[in-house]
Amino acid sequence: MTKVAIVFHSATGTTKQLAAAVADGALSVAEVDVVNVEIVGADIVEGRFRNSSLIERLKDVDAMIFGSPTFMGCVSAQFKAFADATGDLWADKAWSNKVAGGFTIGSNMSGDQLNTIQYMQIFASQHGMLWASLDIPGNCDAEGRNRLGAQSGLIAHSRDGELHEIDLITANYLGRRIAQVAKIFAAANAPDSQPGLAAA
Ligand SMILES: Cc1cc2nc3c(=O)[nH]c(=O)nc-3n(C[C@H](O)[C@H](O)[C@H](O)COP(=O)(O)O)c2cc1C
Repeated sequence: MTKVAIVFHSATGTTKQLAAAVADGALSVAEVDVVNVEIVGADIVEGRFRNSSLIERLKDVDAMIFGSPTFMGCVSAQFKAFADATGDLWADKAWSNKVAGGFTIGSNMSGDQLNTIQYMQIFASQHGMLWASLDIPGNCDAEGRNRLGAQSGLIAHSRDGELHEIDLITANYLGRRIAQVAKIFAAANAPDSQPGLAAA
């Protein structure tokens, strides 16, 4: 079974709705299981993320899909506190070769959400993860998916807390795509696979 974790923070629930759609998409792939990992403010004590058991749950997953609202042009402080708490894993290359992807939402159509995705990409790269983009050409899709046109991940927009149906459909697609990519890389990472991905 390939395991895909949806790792997200949501203050008022819109990112959480996207996370549920991403999870549904991942679960639509055969032999894929989803691990829902919600980052909450109560896990942050004196500015540091202290929930080590949450991080432990990510040890055996094949892929992580990161989700955060865009706050002041980047991930939320809660998401960043979680990211900072993974520093020891960075040194051990514990997440190397896991697949990664990301999604975000903002209340503006172009509210600097791209910077949030780019931060997630860099975070994944710090861990030696393999970033999977969103392969839906914006404005060219028959169903209108990826309506805001970002290719590095899903950027969503809501002015009033109501999710746009197309953003939910795109989130579902992102989850499905990353689960499919994760299945391929999980097979390549298996100890008996040839040629496999060699450790540096
Ligand atoms: C402190 C704060 C900063 C925000 N900064 C941005 C921003 O830079 N760009 C944007 O488009 N929306 C911004 N927003 C709006 C949120 O991203 C938006 O309401 C989002 O849907 C919240 O996600 P959540 O419901 O998962 O908490 C901000 C909201 C707050 C509270």
